Amino acid sequence: MRHASVWTTAKDRPGFPGLRQDMEVDVAVVGGGLTGLTTALLARRTGVGTVAVLEAGRLGQGTTGHTTGKVTSQHGLVYAQLTSRYGQDQARMYADANQAGVELVAALTGEYGIDCGLTRAPALAYTRDPGQRRALEEEVAAAVRLGLPASLVESAGLPFEIEAAVRFDDQSHFHPGRYVAGLARALSASGASVFEHTRALEVEEHQDGTVQVRTADATVRAKSVVVATLLPIGMIGGYFARTRPSRSFGLAARLRGPAPREMTISADPPTRSTRPWPDGGPNGLIVVGGGHETGTERDTQAMWEDLEQWTRSTFEVDSVEYRWSGQDYTTADQVPYIGRSPASDRVLVATGFGKWGLSNGTAAAVMLGDLLAGRDHPWLPVFDATRLGDAKAVDRLVKDNLKVGADLVGGHLDRLRSHHGRHLARGQGGVIDVDGDSVGAYRDAEGGLHAVGLTCTHMGCRLAWNAAETSWDCGCHGSRYDPDGNILNGPAVRPLPTVDLDDD
Ligand SMILES: Cc1cc2nc3c(=O)[nH]c(=O)nc-3n(C[C@H](O)[C@H](O)[C@H](O)COP(=O)(O)OP(=O)(O)OC[C@H]3O[C@@H](n4cnc5c(N)ncnc54)[C@H](O)[C@@H]3O)c2cc1C
Ligand code: FES
Repeated sequence: MRHASVWTTAKDRPGFPGLRQDMEVDVAVVGGGLTGLTTALLARRTGVGTVAVLEAGRLGQGTTGHTTGKVTSQHGLVYAQLTSRYGQDQARMYADANQAGVELVAALTGEYGIDCGLTRAPALAYTRDPGQRRALEEEVAAAVRLGLPASLVESAGLPFEIEAAVRFDDQSHFHPGRYVAGLARALSASGASVFEHTRALEVEEHQDGTVQVRTADATVRAKSVVVATLLPIGMIGGYFARTRPSRSFGLAARLRGPAPREMTISADPPTRSTRPWPDGGPNGLIVVGGGHETGTERDTQAMWEDLEQWTRSTFEVDSVEYRWSGQDYTTADQVPYIGRSPASDRVLVATGFGKWGLSNGTAAAVMLGDLLAGRDHPWLPVFDATRLGDAKAVDRLVKDNLKVGADLVGGHLDRLRSHHGRHLARGQGGVIDVDGDSVGAYRDAEGGLHAVGLTCTHMGCRLAWNAAETSWDCGCHGSRYDPDGNILNGPAVRPLPTVDLDDD
């Protein structure tokens, strides 16, 4: 089994250089995932002028490269809830945006000849609990009123009985790595500049009316900047305090017989999401589920084991080939923030996709593309990036931030109470005491010792060791670092300081 995302099998993805010289463009896009690349491509197509994309690592390496890859407007049971919370008009904006996102992915795939295995399939959200049937009926009624292709059915194509399922017809799944590679090729051919290995350190509006993106080696001066880094970096818009980070787990398996062709997700906890895995042949299946808030679960091993056990007890499994995990951010009212940030009309954002960013991120690109071209967009009001939300959402924000405050002062004190790393076994990590200071240490499989400072470089929260994913995770806003202190997830933009430890 490979401990890697199944989407890393995109072999022919193009590579791009790092940015070494200052440059001026009309639009700079920070973040080369599905959202950033689609936004950049649409911006080029609407004729906003010159466009540059800056990606910290490789294109598509973020959550887009760790997704399930379902492109659907079915987001669990969201429509009844949205309609009762925000009314029919705003719920319709969300529905229209996401259904259009599904269709735009298909259109771009066809237009640019992207070989990403895009396949139409129904999406089903099912319950096995008779007590939930009414909720599913209400979801179908709400979705149909909003013009979505929904119906209530009593089979989900899974090898067990269900009570009922909400079925959305004509949705799709694809290989996100190959899709991103195709977008990047189209973008480059359109004349945009694409840079990899280029981390934005700061985005700052200047009095001359430009926005400057500072990187380690150069500065990009732009008329507008789109921050598409999953969660806006640093302090931009205060989105770190308005969203919660969580991680979920996935595996790709080969079954002994044909895998279900449908895309399914359980409406009952725990979440179990399935879709076909075409690269694994007709028996290939992807299963995603489980999860926890980032920085709160020390041993994620149990989550994979749980997911694998469910898969093996549900299907006849021949082999499990890949397993991986990914991170996304959820807003207090489940609706992403898309549009102008509160700080500046020239800084645009798209964040808080709540694990449905393939359709939402594509829709975000449409809205941001219009804003960049100086136009408004009819879907924007429901996604308003400056909103605080209703009373329920504000209450949730207050509670989340009280928890963050506790992490800032308290931290996770799982100390090994050792003055050096000598007692760490191979593969073990933890917090050790060095002259009264806490240091994070990890001994790798070859016996090498890696030690870093334990204060998150974003806003100073204490980091916790994540043993199964061998990373230092921040429970405040989701930044993650590898054992050498390199950033795995923002909003942090600076690595952790490394510490020299006596290993004799
Ligand atoms: C396990 C899992 C399963 C999911 N399944 C689905 C699904 O089936 N369907 C669906 O619709 N959604 C799904 N989602 C959610 C969806 O995958 C994400 O919402 C979506 O991929 C987000 O895309 P993005 O481009 O906004 O972010 P990302 O793909 O994370 O891209 C952001 C990019 O910004 C870069 N970056 C970060 N900081 C900087 C910086 N300082 N400078 C430059 N670049 C930077 C990162 O390296 C990254 O490449 C899932 C999420 C998870 C975790
Ligand atoms: S991510 Fe904000 S303090 Fe760590």
